[in-house]
Amino acid sequence: MSAVSGKIGVGLIGAHDWAEKAHLPGYAAHERVHLAAICDVVPERARAMADRFGITTVYHDHHDLLADPAVQLVDVCTPTHTHLPLSLDAIAAGRHVLSEKPLATAAAPAFEAAAAAARQGVRTKLGFTFRYSPAIRQIKRWIEDGSLGEIFHIHGFEQNSQFLDPDFPLRQVSPDQPRDRLIPSSVVGYGSHLVDLMRWLGGEFASVAASMRNFVPERIVRGMTGRQRIPIEDGTVGLVEYASGTQGLLQSSYIAVGNYPGVEIRIYGSRGAAVARLISEFGVAESLHRAEADVVEFQPVRLGDEHFPPGTSLGTPWPELYYRNLIRHFVDEIVEDRSEECTFLDGARSQQIVDALVTAHFERRWVDLGGASA
Ligand SMILES: NC(=O)c1ccc[n+]([C@@H]2O[C@H](COP(=O)([O-])OP(=O)(O)OC[C@H]3O[C@@H](n4cnc5c(N)ncnc54)[C@H](O)[C@@H]3O)[C@@H](O)[C@H]2O)c1
Repeated sequence: MSAVSGKIGVGLIGAHDWAEKAHLPGYAAHERVHLAAICDVVPERARAMADRFGITTVYHDHHDLLADPAVQLVDVCTPTHTHLPLSLDAIAAGRHVLSEKPLATAAAPAFEAAAAAARQGVRTKLGFTFRYSPAIRQIKRWIEDGSLGEIFHIHGFEQNSQFLDPDFPLRQVSPDQPRDRLIPSSVVGYGSHLVDLMRWLGGEFASVAASMRNFVPERIVRGMTGRQRIPIEDGTVGLVEYASGTQGLLQSSYIAVGNYPGVEIRIYGSRGAAVARLISEFGVAESLHRAEADVVEFQPVRLGDEHFPPGTSLGTPWPELYYRNLIRHFVDEIVEDRSEECTFLDGARSQQIVDALVTAHFERRWVDLGGASA
């Protein structure tokens, strides 16, 4: 616990858009958190966010934040390529770590980071935002209590069309990326979320097949001048055979029309079915519907206040709603020594499945995931 009695001290690295919209409001709303320090390589960003959230200590080098005894939990909210090295440094410094996803762009180093955290005895959480949707957590309970029966099909879709416009800048394409073959992209950024949700709800994947395509041939890419002719994968469809026998279907897309965050999960079981739409529409963050084997018309389900983190509702913007829940879970898991969920190990397994989908596409075959069924 931090010097501020009874509270856990948090230090955040990466003081920009997503930190402001999602992470920092989550910590600020938790009564067991003391926002102890903030760090950004761009000093004015760290200072602005410190002023806004009442954080007294500002750093520009993450090593200084990691050496600060007031920090017990480190939050990594920086660009993708920095997640792994910053998280490893935080683990080596003996701090609990929340990292934005993806932890790494390959599975092996993500598994190694999970093992390093276990050796150090620190907790980890990966920023799989949508596990912390009240509707998704209710579906998880229905699966576990058996009220949907045996699960036959799980469908995960992502419709999120900001990149349908070729002039909407694409993030995070490395300038030296070879352009003579398809560059997996939506399946990495959005597919990793979907795969994690589908795995959390349905258990381990046994085998996958996939088809990936580039639909928009030229686009603006952040950091490059003018439209680039670049074969970005902007649509993937996949088939899943679960170890349990459940069948799965997934789609990740940059171009399927629909609003943020654009996640839809459908579960069909022997006793009932449920559909969660995590799509911000007309000021409402998400919806949940359920049907029964003997009453087949889907009915809306209204979840009570106890399903929402304190002070939030369906009218709360989705980044804040889900992240307040995610951070509340992580802090409470640490403080109350509760069992962990949504850890770096889950990030590594999701990465392994995304890698398998990419291999399935390029090699035009089913790819087995026997190794992920432990
Ligand atoms: N989970 C989700 O649903 C979700 C949604 C949006 C964004 N994200 C992820 O969150 C992360 C942050 O997103 P963003 O839009 O705020 O990114 P951003 O690039 O706008 O901001 C990142 C900040 O990190 C700082 N930074 C970079 N390297 C640093 C270092 N070594 N030490 C200290 N500061 C450093 C940059 O100066 C910048 O201010 C990204 O990985 C993004 O993919 C996740």
